[in-house]
Amino acid sequence: MADKNILHMLTPLKHISPFDVNMAVDAGYDAVAQYAQVTLEEVAGLVQDAIFSRPPKLGVRTGIFIGGKNAALALDMLEAAQKALVPPFSVSIFADPAGSFTTAAAMVACVEKVLKEKKQRDLKGLKVAVFGGTGVVGFSAAVIAALEGAEASLVGYDGVNRVARSAEIIAARFGISIRPVDGSTKPKIAEILSRTEAIFCAGRAGVRVLAKEDIEAADKLVVAADVNAVPPSGIEGLDAAASGTQISTKGALGIGPLAIGNIKYKTESGLFRRMISTSKAVRFDFRDAFALARELNA
Ligand SMILES: NC(=O)c1ccc[n+]([C@@H]2O[C@H](COP(=O)([O-])OP(=O)(O)OC[C@H]3O[C@@H](n4cnc5c(N)ncnc54)[C@H](OP(=O)(O)O)[C@@H]3O)[C@@H](O)[C@H]2O)c1
Repeated sequence: MADKNILHMLTPLKHISPFDVNMAVDAGYDAVAQYAQVTLEEVAGLVQDAIFSRPPKLGVRTGIFIGGKNAALALDMLEAAQKALVPPFSVSIFADPAGSFTTAAAMVACVEKVLKEKKQRDLKGLKVAVFGGTGVVGFSAAVIAALEGAEASLVGYDGVNRVARSAEIIAARFGISIRPVDGSTKPKIAEILSRTEAIFCAGRAGVRVLAKEDIEAADKLVVAADVNAVPPSGIEGLDAAASGTQISTKGALGIGPLAIGNIKYKTESGLFRRMISTSKAVRFDFRDAFALARELNA
């Protein structure tokens, strides 16, 4: 009988995401078990329970998935899972809280592709404003872009305090500088957009974040990406399927949630499939997601 692929899905929240369960099973896992309201301290015990019940050679057929809605906590949980391993017993581990690592990776990779193909630019030095900056997708997109050399700002729709805390966490954890900015009023948003070359819009589902006139007034804007697939769109006038379509009279290009979702879906599925087929235990976070999203976009 072939060795079974088993995935243990952990979340600090009340429920593991049904989206991630479907993705894991469709990617090929034979069995998926869910653990909700898991604390950071409980991760080691759960991982050790999983490793000691199978011979070491089956470690690669055992996976741990970490969900939730907080990027820093998910990375801490991934590290705790890794530290709990007792060689030669091992497992593969993949963190993707609220799908944010794969979604942010797909958004940045799609922007990079459009920049390269249509504007002969790359991410280095690109002035990025991340709207929905208080959310986990926005957080992850800012980190990925900044690690690629972009000058990223996290926009707080309710003031600067929450995004300033995120910027502190990012600086301490990754040694990169993200600018927290106040996007709580129309004039403040206009001021942010006046120096922005790329918009990453990662606001709450079904929330209109930017109007057509905001986009039209953004003189330096080169590209705008929106991940919100629930109407109304995060950016007015940006078609859900847009993939480098012109959205302003000044030539700014738009990328919609369905184009990004296509790469996100393939990235998450692809990382699960790599866990299933690997002959050596693997660890995946937003960096691996971005590398794969880039590859899928090439
Ligand atoms: N296309 C895809 O493949 C894909 C995949 C996954 C997710 N998504 C989408 O990605 C987006 C971000 O996901 P998430 O998990 O980070 O979402 P989220 O936490 O629900 O929302 C992101 C942030 O938007 C903030 N927000 C609320 N009203 C806003 C406004 N008027 N302007 C700007 N920001 C506002 C929220 O603030 P509070 O914290 O105060 O509520 C939250 O922090 C969502 O629209 C989600 O549906 C798309």
